[in-house]
Amino acid sequence: MSDLDLRRLPKHVAIIPDGNGRWAKLRSEERTLGHVRGTTNVKEIVTFAKELGIQVLTIYAFSDENWQRPLQEVGILMDLLKQYLIEERETILKNKIQLRAMGTIDRLPAPVLEELKKTIELSSQNQEMILNFAVSYGSRSEIIQAIQKISQDVLKGKFPPEKIDSALLSQYLYTKDLPDPDLLIRTSGEMRISNFLLWQMAYTELYVTPTLWPDFSREEFVKALLEYQTRKRRFGLTEEQTLSHGCDTH
Ligand code: FPP
Repeated sequence: MSDLDLRRLPKHVAIIPDGNGRWAKLRSEERTLGHVRGTTNVKEIVTFAKELGIQVLTIYAFSDENWQRPLQEVGILMDLLKQYLIEERETILKNKIQLRAMGTIDRLPAPVLEELKKTIELSSQNQEMILNFAVSYGSRSEIIQAIQKISQDVLKGKFPPEKIDSALLSQYLYTKDLPDPDLLIRTSGEMRISNFLLWQMAYTELYVTPTLWPDFSREEFVKALLEYQTRKRRFGLTEEQTLSHGCDTH
């Protein structure tokens, strides 16, 4: 912790919290226990990120593809999400965290959606950290929906096709008013992006740790941030250019 430069933290950290199932299997336990411990760890890491001063934390809580898991497991994950929203509401509000969700959230069971919307609404004026849950989220469907809306706006005559550029497309994504992630943390060793923020992560620094999500502690988070602070970010330019443009080169 002592070496961490709090003035050079990533603004936006995205996390793929993987490995709940393997964590349970290693202990000859049911997958459910892994998800329970994983949820407890979400609480811990959210609180820690807020303490450190991270501005945006995006967590891939449930993917488009996760709907295809066994019905019972989907049910458990939904229950845990609901429980989290109920139990953490007070902490989220007390810590001035603004909760957001991105994904086709209308697919969520009504009681989960209700709790989600309630916390989103109650926390909407909070300014200290944005906690962005990707639920029922898939990056490809996000991009497809954006293209559909752009096409409709072109047909309505709002702008000609030549006006479509990166900045415009970004405005049609769930993340339209957020900075792109500076750092992606993926736990449990898989070297994949798994349909997560494909557009937004064009220049994101990737950090993969073999640690399973329930074991991803505060210390592990600091390790990821320290590694991030050793990276030279060039955004496709040469080092000399990034220095003369005053780019953030960490
Ligand atoms: C990966 O473990 C994790 C998930 C599929 C979902 C992530 C969910 C949580 C961390 C808990 C609920 C979240 C919130 C925000 C309350 P896995 O089952 O893919 O593990 P495995 O790859 O080892 O099987």
